[in-house]
Amino acid sequence: MANMQRGLLMAGNWKMFKTRSEVEAFILGLAPVFQKSSQVEAMVCPSFTLLSTAQKTIKRMGLPLKVSAQNMEYREEGAFTGEVSAIHLKELELRGVLLGHSERRQYYNETDVAINQKTKVALQYGLLPIVCVGELLEQRQAGNTDTVVIEQITKALEGLDAKQIPAIVIAYEPVWAIGTGKVCETPEANRVCKLIRTQVTAQFGADAANALRILYGGSMNNANAEALLSQSDIDGGLIGGASLKVDSFAELLNTANQVMSQQTVAVV
Ligand code: 13P
Repeated sequence: MANMQRGLLMAGNWKMFKTRSEVEAFILGLAPVFQKSSQVEAMVCPSFTLLSTAQKTIKRMGLPLKVSAQNMEYREEGAFTGEVSAIHLKELELRGVLLGHSERRQYYNETDVAINQKTKVALQYGLLPIVCVGELLEQRQAGNTDTVVIEQITKALEGLDAKQIPAIVIAYEPVWAIGTGKVCETPEANRVCKLIRTQVTAQFGADAANALRILYGGSMNNANAEALLSQSDIDGGLIGGASLKVDSFAELLNTANQVMSQQTVAVV
């Protein structure tokens, strides 16, 4: 059973999808979800050019939906054509930023060192870093999942202070499960998330590790969300495909709310 103190975070990663009118229509369509009491932290991550559209629409409607970016440059300003910094994201009053998504590692050669630098700068600016880790299919088949994930975690969090850990989110996204419809089996997803927590305990102590939210991502949808979200070490989802349609994202948020309220009852 997921830890109630940590709460659930459900984040839609829209990748390079959606136009301005689609973002506006999506947010209008999602509003009814928040009419019922919503305990889950709900978030969307649009493209850079649509961040301010999303923020304005949410503000106008008074929704508790959070907005985060999908990436940022770690340097604060300078001659870096085409880049966007933490200063720019902070100015938009964003909740946070995805860092080290496997698509950024794969197509833009993003390294663990860069992800570590970005994590530190995001924290410095009060942005929630959502740090993505996960193994490739070949690495899983070779039996290297644990080594790969532990190395990514160790490097991403290097040099941080234990006090900073609760202000971070880790997303475990096995690369072979992203956009493939092949979800990681629930016990295995929980095992890797627990492994991450154990590694964070070794680096920063139990208090920090127990406060850390760890999301699962990779073909999460309404058929598998309830089981995944009910696990001891999974504190939410990072959702691609199923976050693009308002109905399926709304359903996922409702499921997460249900899981949270069942567990609140169980704790009482
Ligand atoms: P899918 O949910 O489409 O598998 O994507 C997951 C993902 O990459 C979220 O960041």
